[in-house]
Amino acid sequence: MPNAEQVKSTAERVAKPLLRVLAGDQRTPPPIWLMRQAGRYLPEYRAVRADAGGFLDLCYDSERSAEVTLQPIRRYGFDAAIVFADILLIPHALGQDVAFKQGEGPCLEPIRKAGDLAVLRPEGMLEKLEPVMGTLRILARELPSECALIGFAGAPWTVATYMVEGGSSKDYLTVKRWAFGEEPGFAALIDRLVEATADYLVAQVRAGAEVVQIFDTWAGVLPEAAFRRWCVAPVKAIVERFRAQCPTVPVIAFPRGAGPLLLGYAAETGVDGVSLDSAMPLAWARENLNDARVLQGNLDPALLVAGGQPMREGIATILEAMKGRSHIFNLGHGIVPPTPPEHVGELVATVRELAGRNG
Ligand code: CP3
Repeated sequence: MPNAEQVKSTAERVAKPLLRVLAGDQRTPPPIWLMRQAGRYLPEYRAVRADAGGFLDLCYDSERSAEVTLQPIRRYGFDAAIVFADILLIPHALGQDVAFKQGEGPCLEPIRKAGDLAVLRPEGMLEKLEPVMGTLRILARELPSECALIGFAGAPWTVATYMVEGGSSKDYLTVKRWAFGEEPGFAALIDRLVEATADYLVAQVRAGAEVVQIFDTWAGVLPEAAFRRWCVAPVKAIVERFRAQCPTVPVIAFPRGAGPLLLGYAAETGVDGVSLDSAMPLAWARENLNDARVLQGNLDPALLVAGGQPMREGIATILEAMKGRSHIFNLGHGIVPPTPPEHVGELVATVRELAGRNG
């Protein structure tokens, strides 16, 4: 019979580093994964993508989505895999027309007034998203034992920007005009997204996700009052609804570009971790964001494109700033397609080498 110490040390060895940090531990080296770690910078992704048909076909193909999720895990040994899917699957599964055109990004049939909400049909949404659960079930079976499985969704504000603008936007004028000008109608859209998103995240957990991340990519385009109304309140409502079903599953939010509006964000929304964009000074975050159990981030994706000494210095600065703090190493935004795949390998090796030296 092993004694208690041996049992404990076995448990520690098998526990996944990412989950341990989200439970409040500090780890040297920190666990690492990268937003958009699956994608066009990898030749093996482009090969699967070329065979799959359109991008949405790939997202709804559990076998192929699991394969492209696993590709960067095999190459780099990341501490977490993020299920291959997209934040625009929710509007698609709710019944909005969504298309991804080569070289143009997403294209949606816009919803711009309360009367347009009738196209959104929550009943049947989870059945349409069932292939994503299929992807998660494959991953739960096939991932290495130390690799955590992350599910995700877009935050209501960010998803709404695409739903209302009809695609990507430069100035967010159409969605802001609705949000600022006719609050009750826009609130009805956000409320529907809150429910759909929480239910979708719960379903992902039931299918094997161990952590969930909420991407609020366009949080930074709103002034303070609107940020509280359309970013903080909906994420808080999602977390409440989600926690009622999944009380122990950690939640990370990525309110990109929010800057000093992040003061109090974790306490108000109830998230465990906050993912920081590259413009956020880590010394400031460390001093001011103590309500977040974990900070994630925040290497500039362009430093990963550049590689070499500039990347090494960027990594060293982050590790130094986060020493002794619960931290997950990540980028400040997703990997961009021109990234040389070998730089990603160098990044992982450098984080582990430098952290080892510091720790
Ligand atoms: O590896 C991973 O990170 C998991 C998969 C993932 C994708 N999209 C795959 C994808 C994740 C987590 C996302 C999130 C996502 N999708 C966000 C939030 C994060 C961020 O990057 O800000 C947003 C805003 C979207 C919406 C979206 N999807 C846009 C605007 C585009 C077109 C622009 C682009 O980068 O091409 C996508 C397409 C998309 N989503 C691709 C991938 C791999 C590229 C499509 C292709 O292969 O042709």
